[in-house]
Amino acid sequence: MKKYILLTLILTVVVIGPFVYQQWSEAKRLQHIRETKQFASQIHATSLADYLQQLKQMSPDSTQLLLFTGNTQAQLEPCGCFIGQSGGLPRRAEAITHIRENGFSPLLVDLGGIQPSQPPSMKPHSFESDALSTDDEIIMRDRQRVQTTLTAMEMMGYDAFFPFAAEAEIVQNQRVDVSFTFLDSDLTQDSDSYLIKTIGEKRIALVALDLKDSAEIASISKKFNSVMSEVQENSNFIIGLSHSPPKINRMLARKYPNFSAILSPAEGESEKIGDVLLAYCNSKGKTLGALLLTDGELNISSQVQQIALTEHVSDDPNVRKLLDDFYHQVATDHQLQTVSYRLFSSEPFEQEDKNSYIGSQACQECHQKEFTQWSHSSHATAFNTLRTVGREYYPECVTCHVTGSGYESGYQIGNSGREHLVDVGCETCHGPGKQHAYTPLKENIRGQVPEKVCMECHTPEHSPGFNQLIEQVMLEVDHSRPQPSLKQILEQRMRGPMKPEVELFVMSYCPYGVQAEQELLPFFEKYGDTIDFKLRFIVGKEETSTESGNGQIKFTSLHGEPELIENKRQMVIAELYPDKLFDYLLCRADHLEKAWVNCAKKVGLDIGRIAEAVDGKKITLDLVEEVQRTEELNIKGSPTLVIDGRIIDGSLWRGRVKETCR
Ligand code: HEC
Ligand code: HEC
Ligand code: HEC
Ligand code: HEC
Repeated sequence: MKKYILLTLILTVVVIGPFVYQQWSEAKRLQHIRETKQFASQIHATSLADYLQQLKQMSPDSTQLLLFTGNTQAQLEPCGCFIGQSGGLPRRAEAITHIRENGFSPLLVDLGGIQPSQPPSMKPHSFESDALSTDDEIIMRDRQRVQTTLTAMEMMGYDAFFPFAAEAEIVQNQRVDVSFTFLDSDLTQDSDSYLIKTIGEKRIALVALDLKDSAEIASISKKFNSVMSEVQENSNFIIGLSHSPPKINRMLARKYPNFSAILSPAEGESEKIGDVLLAYCNSKGKTLGALLLTDGELNISSQVQQIALTEHVSDDPNVRKLLDDFYHQVATDHQLQTVSYRLFSSEPFEQEDKNSYIGSQACQECHQKEFTQWSHSSHATAFNTLRTVGREYYPECVTCHVTGSGYESGYQIGNSGREHLVDVGCETCHGPGKQHAYTPLKENIRGQVPEKVCMECHTPEHSPGFNQLIEQVMLEVDHSRPQPSLKQILEQRMRGPMKPEVELFVMSYCPYGVQAEQELLPFFEKYGDTIDFKLRFIVGKEETSTESGNGQIKFTSLHGEPELIENKRQMVIAELYPDKLFDYLLCRADHLEKAWVNCAKKVGLDIGRIAEAVDGKKITLDLVEEVQRTEELNIKGSPTLVIDGRIIDGSLWRGRVKETCR
């Protein structure tokens, strides 16, 4: 007897063991990815909540506050590519509002560097095709970004702005309608080289500094000394706003110890030279600098922190609207949509003039295995991501979320003939494939994909931690990986900031659609709010013109009028009682031939309310949307499962659902 128990035990371990081990090691792998990414995306800054807590301990009467930004490069807001990303004008405005609500009236200063700048490797090439960007057009969109930034600063109530010498003229031309002071470090000119502002009882002087070397310090010494003594007489605190290099800032701090602080738009670690605080910014508006000035009985003290602007800070509605108006303009004006740089400019395959992009679909016929693996990866839904967040026409996003952007045969915004090049397709990693597809040789396609190809998109700015995870991420794009389960697909998608969007297309009277609901709904229910589930209906639409000339829309459904009505009912329930939809559907699945009211009553729905909405006007619009979505995705039968806009192969989820209504 004992022997049998032991044998069973050993057998169990042998059979289940590897499976358990695999699950365990996969869970560990995912955790490692998550932790590495989380760590890499951390930003050294204080959360707004913590900062407000600190302010509550202080009195606005004895403490003055100066908020500062610099080198924002007209970055309106972060791209949203990863969780924990910090920055953006709408959040900055919201943070300032909260600080004001705590009784502080901060001075607001921008230290310059407002113009967009691109890393040298991303500079536009001399495009030959006139379909691609010209410098003028790039400047047009950038100009609007600068204007939008200045307008947002005005809305936030900025006091002063100190543009870089190189951008002063351009920015002056964009001045829109702003009331804050533009500072200029040129002491020989009759311009504002300093500004004195009063907060409460105190006066704070802002002095513009732009000195290249110690010789320059010496040469302006006389003039500057007189400025400093003038400023000193009239203020309690003197703050330097400096475009000089750190070395010069230190020299200035030593030479003029009356500065409370010298602020620089560059990135760096804050430090103290004597009593003078030297402080820096985070580029691209990632954080909001906060300088606290206390005029104590014994001495003046200053203290600096960076405030994080992560997703925990909501958007100021007015600045949000300003940005949305700008995006709307780009969306509707083709001239604003030209790309300003392209990837892979040092890869030989991409520079080959005679080759061109043909799209991932064209590779499928010969590389089915690779295609299937790719189609379940998030690369295959990268453009859907942009559609979901409404940036599919915005060149600053499109470049990395499509195939071949910036190349003559690559994806082009607004060109409907290039729809097959959306997403991060085969040819982003393997290079343009037309020649290879016609004459399949190893020589005419990039067979080895070096890490640096990945890194063109997976930059530290857009994909922090990627460079530490090379082995892990290479594994994820390995075409010989086993088919993922539905659970694995969902959980992979949940690693990013976006919820996976799950759409189940059915006809409410289709027995296979109903089976699919029975199969899938209990599974999806477990994910609750972490997925974005939508039940969709496959209906037909006929437009008939009546005698009066008004077009009328008639909807049709494979299983006739009763099905159409049940579809409408389920749509109404999804909208009015989202929490009870699954219960209703599962009840209906068991009692489809009985009256719907039984199930409605059982799960506690208001029957009158549903019946009314089913006959309402809005339902027609909703049905039109269903038809559009079905056509857009080319959905043919019930049931069909779609995740992030891509149809999921039935073999991954159908279980006992063998057939399809079409
Ligand atoms: C007509 C069939 C066909 C089409 C279409 C096709 N390939 Fe191939 N592909 C092949 C064959 C055959 C080979 C193997 C060539 C060899 O070993 O000489 C190959 C090899 C490859 C390799 C491996 C090269 C290496 O160095 O080992 C890659 C990568 C590749 N194809 C990518 C693509 C991509 C991307 C597309 C779509 C743009 C595509 N293929 C379209 C037939 C095709
Ligand atoms: C053309 C730009 C581009 C290239 C090249 C590229 N990727 Fe990506 N990658 C993306 C984008 C965009 C996403 C996010 C897609 C989405 O969810 O919208 C992504 C997502 C991923 C993810 C999923 C991230 C996660 O945690 O959810 C992995 C893993 C990945 N890429 C690995 C790679 C590897 C490995 C390479 C090189 C062999 C590579 N990528 C090359 C643009 C690119
Ligand atoms: C330099 C290339 C690059 C640019 C430019 C870029 N992205 Fe991304 N994006 C990526 C990569 C890479 C990922 C995957 C990051 C990861 O998980 O490591 C990603 C992921 C995302 C995600 C998360 C998707 C998910 O499934 O959770 C969103 C949303 C996104 N990008 C939106 C945008 C928007 C909006 C813009 C323009 C403002 C933009 N991206 C510009 C490369 C880029
Ligand atoms: C994110 C980058 C990426 C994308 C997108 C991608 N591949 Fe690959 N592919 C690779 C990598 C990495 C390898 C392995 C190359 C190596 O060994 O260095 C590879 C290898 C291959 C090979 C060689 C044989 C094999 O299976 O390993 C073929 C064929 C291939 N890919 C076809 C495709 C096709 C077809 C698509 C689109 C459906 C595609 N690839 C999309 C990165 C990618």
